[in-house]
Amino acid sequence: VSLRSYNTFGLDVRARYFARFASADELRQLLRLPEVQRREKLILGGGSNLLFTQDFDGVVLKNEICGLQILSEDATDNTALVRAGAGESWHGLVEYALDQGLSGIENLSLIPGTVGAAPLQNIGAYGAELRDTFDHLEALELATGEGRVFSAAECGFGYRESVFKNVLKNQYVVTAVALRLHRLGQPAGYAPNVRYGAIAETLAELGIEGEPTPQEVSRAVVHIRRSKLPDPAQVGNAGSFFKNPEVSQAKFDQLKAAHPDLPGYPVPGGVKVPAGWLIERAGWKGLRRGPGEGTHGVHDRQALVLVHHGGATGNDLRQLAQEIISSVSQQFGIELHPEVNIL
Ligand code: EPU
Repeated sequence: VSLRSYNTFGLDVRARYFARFASADELRQLLRLPEVQRREKLILGGGSNLLFTQDFDGVVLKNEICGLQILSEDATDNTALVRAGAGESWHGLVEYALDQGLSGIENLSLIPGTVGAAPLQNIGAYGAELRDTFDHLEALELATGEGRVFSAAECGFGYRESVFKNVLKNQYVVTAVALRLHRLGQPAGYAPNVRYGAIAETLAELGIEGEPTPQEVSRAVVHIRRSKLPDPAQVGNAGSFFKNPEVSQAKFDQLKAAHPDLPGYPVPGGVKVPAGWLIERAGWKGLRRGPGEGTHGVHDRQALVLVHHGGATGNDLRQLAQEIISSVSQQFGIELHPEVNIL
């Protein structure tokens, strides 16, 4: 089976076996098949955070569990608990929440991928992260087929991190996610989050004055993303290819002396530096490689994003990523780490 339409880089790799499941029960049945038990398994959501460097000689299991519902309302704090099947599109969930008059994930508008993939890396953008609204998730253990509920604490969320990326890697399949969202209105005392500078600027640019509604914040985020990030339907990419590195305050001060315009955001224990800035300064922004107009390269409006124009392999992209890592390391003494899952 070709996986070309199942990864947003649009890489033409193949999987030995491919199956879909639309419920936890269907997944349990698949896991009982000897061919599935014996082989390496890859659970696929939207394929928007993956770089395939070779064919996959195992079973790809595509999560298509649907369903969006409000589980309960809490009048005391004006919140609602919303549950989404892991196979739903993340942006679809954002739109559902907005339609229901619920706020809390509008800053995460237009992030590609599925609901089930969101907790794996604690997706985040424009001043918000999944963990801000996360309540719990339902998962199924691959080895036993048993269901388990994970609380926020049990997920071990960090910046683009969770237990599902490290200690519990490849052990559980997320089947549903539940979020606690805010109902706007009196006496809620809750307002949309517009702390991220670019949101306020974009709201002004769109002519939106006063306190914005969650829909307006969503519109602003969609506007920013469309202006900076390539649409995977047009140009293969997986969003940010690297994480933003954290450096010590001492290291930051030393870099800042040499590069006064270096941006940095304080975090516990140091300063987070935008990898996009480092990569741009190292001269990679807009680079194209390969025959003709180029088959792959670095996005010209956001240097953190590697792009596949067509005709490249996953190894070409991995090679480019490695060169970027060494170049940034040489020029700034900072080690970049990929954010995408390289297979
Ligand atoms: N910058 C540059 N050149 C570039 C890109 C960025 O100089 O080519 C500098 C600028 O100073 C800019 C700063 O980096 O002000 C921050 O850029 P941006 O707001 O675009 O955010 P980012 O740090 O590059 C992160 C996330 C994005 C998320 C945005 C917005 C990571 C790895 N990436 O990028 O997430 O959308 O913030 O909050 O944390 C993703 O994970 O796939 C993703 C797109």
